[in-house]
Amino acid sequence: GVDDYSAVLTSVELIGEDVVYLRARCPELACEVEPGQFILLRDPAWGLDPLLMRPFAVAGVIGDDIEILLQVVGRGTEMLAQRKPGDPLVVRGPMGRGFSKPSSSPVYVAGTLGSAPLLFARDRFGAGRFVLGVPNGRWESFVLWLKRRCPELEVFSDDGSLGSKGNSLKGLSPDEDVSVMACGPGPMMAAMANMGLKDCQVSMESRMACGIGACSGCVIETSSGKKRVCADGPVFDLQEVVW
Ligand code: FES
Repeated sequence: GVDDYSAVLTSVELIGEDVVYLRARCPELACEVEPGQFILLRDPAWGLDPLLMRPFAVAGVIGDDIEILLQVVGRGTEMLAQRKPGDPLVVRGPMGRGFSKPSSSPVYVAGTLGSAPLLFARDRFGAGRFVLGVPNGRWESFVLWLKRRCPELEVFSDDGSLGSKGNSLKGLSPDEDVSVMACGPGPMMAAMANMGLKDCQVSMESRMACGIGACSGCVIETSSGKKRVCADGPVFDLQEVVW
């Protein structure tokens, strides 16, 4: 079942220009959550409106703690970013359908913060190629952080200021016997669909808004009709999604 839990922040760290790493103690969730699933977070200071909860992919589990990466994009995330270790949080989850166990060697393909659920998947399913695409050099400290966590990281940037210049999908081929897991912006995943990758799961979390099935903002078209990313996903088969 999905419950609200009281959690306590154990770490709040700025790891990029506007990217914050949060760690929160929540044993009930930590033992249950699977890679690709997400949680809803609420700062108790926001009051009780469930619509104010924000969805975040879980980036990992360490003991009783869950890890989250958040980008400061508005008032809610700004408030969360200013919290301190010891502060309380309300957490709901685990939500949604996560990644299935890969059937062959895993390959992880991330766009910026799409790396969060893939880090968790890598912890669970084992290391493989881990490809990250970022737009520009403003992502440098985030890339350094990720590289410590994931030494095999291959970095690509649109402007060539970090890692290799250009398209992070270049090294992927539909003929390779690998299980791809991906999370990133729509155009990146649409390009993957065009390549005809057969074994590829994508997390569509960037399409989520409320995360609780209340806004219809996350509806996507699939081969079996309209689906809500927050309730039916966020992980889908790449070939099932109509791009
Ligand atoms: Fe609001 Fe899915 S995110 S209904």
